[in-house]
Amino acid sequence: MADLFASSDAGEPWAEHLGPSVCLLHGFATAQAQDLYKEILSISEHSAYRHLTTPGGFVMSVQTTSCGTKGWFSDRDGYRYVAKDPESDAPWPRMSALLLSLASRAAAAAGFEGFVPDACLINRYVPGAKMSLHQDKNERDFNAPIVSVSLGLPATFMFGGHARSDPVKHLDLLHGDVLVWGGESRLRFHGVMPVAPGHHSLTGAQRINLTFRLAG
Ligand code: SIN
Ligand code: FE2
Repeated sequence: MADLFASSDAGEPWAEHLGPSVCLLHGFATAQAQDLYKEILSISEHSAYRHLTTPGGFVMSVQTTSCGTKGWFSDRDGYRYVAKDPESDAPWPRMSALLLSLASRAAAAAGFEGFVPDACLINRYVPGAKMSLHQDKNERDFNAPIVSVSLGLPATFMFGGHARSDPVKHLDLLHGDVLVWGGESRLRFHGVMPVAPGHHSLTGAQRINLTFRLAG
C-alpha cells in the first residue's frame, strides 16, 4: 500500500486499520501540509472562521469555515449544509484540485474507491478548544466515508460506538495524519479532547482539521 502514499520527510507514511472500515493513514498528508495550509489561509480570508452556535444555544469552542459546493452550518435552527456562507451570502470558496485529490486518494487508500466530496469543513482549535462526542449525520448518503485531515498541534481523538454511552478509544492525531471512517463505522460517535497548549512550526498555536464529506 506504501506506493499509494505521497512521500514525506517525516518518515514513511503507513496505514493502521483500527476496526471495520476505520483506517488511520499516518503521515498521509505531511508532504502536502504547507500547500494545504496556504489554501486554508486563503479560504479563511474569503469565508472567515466563526464560532457557531449549536441548536441548543451553546457556542462551540472550535472556529469553523468551509469550502466546496456545500458548507456545514449550525445555529438555533439546527445543523445543516448550506450552499452559501450565511455570513456573506456568497458561495463558499471552491474546493481546490489539491484538496479534492487528497481526499479521494486517502479514501481509496482506506478502501473507499471513487470518493468525491462536495463539502470540506475546516475546524480551527486553539489550545483548550474541543469537540464533544457527536455523529456526522447531516449528510444525505451514509455510503460515503468521512475523511479527516489533521494539521498543526496534536489532538486526542475519541472514537466511540453507535451509542453515546459506548466506550471510547483514544487516538493520537498528529500533523499530517488522515483518519478515514465509513461503512459500518460511518455513524460512530467521535469527538476531540481539549487541545493542549503548544506551538507548531507551520500553524503556530493551533490545530486545523479538515473533514471531507459528501453532503449530497
Ligand atoms: C469533526 O468531527 O468534525 C472534527 C474532528 C476533528 O477535529 O478531528
Ligand atoms: Fe464529526
